[in-house]
Amino acid sequence: MHIHKLEKIWLAIGISMLFVFLGVLGVSAFAMGVKPPSEHHHRIDPAKVTETAPFDKLGLFKTGEKEYEAVMTAFTFGYAPDKMEVPVGATIKFVVTSQDVVHGFEIPGTNVNMMIVPGEISQVTHTFTKPGEYLILCNEYCGGAHEYMKTTIIVK
Ligand code: CUA
Repeated sequence: MHIHKLEKIWLAIGISMLFVFLGVLGVSAFAMGVKPPSEHHHRIDPAKVTETAPFDKLGLFKTGEKEYEAVMTAFTFGYAPDKMEVPVGATIKFVVTSQDVVHGFEIPGTNVNMMIVPGEISQVTHTFTKPGEYLILCNEYCGGAHEYMKTTIIVK
């Protein structure tokens, strides 16, 4: 079969584009693979969350004068620990991971809004200067009872 010269050129361009595309894919996969671990995205095995520090001991821990660390897990459909209470002015460092799927971690009225990805540890720090009941809500759709996935922090 005779292939017109113009068709040959287009064929060559098509093949080169394919290789450029594959090259870009390869380079980005490589770049992601060698990305240095950032402080906010430690890797963790989601199947072994309950036996991996710090998640082998969930809860609210006092780390200083009015400073706390809240080690928490998100799961379908809730958070552990379920309820926490801190004094007014407390600064809480939330350290959170997921035991199953992607969840949200939002405290309305604050700047706290994280995506909780299985296999990653997400951290955010917030100071609660006003007393009240603060809801922690899931804002990533995660299944049937997604809209009921929440817990409370009592500041008093
Ligand atoms: Cu968890 Cu929506």
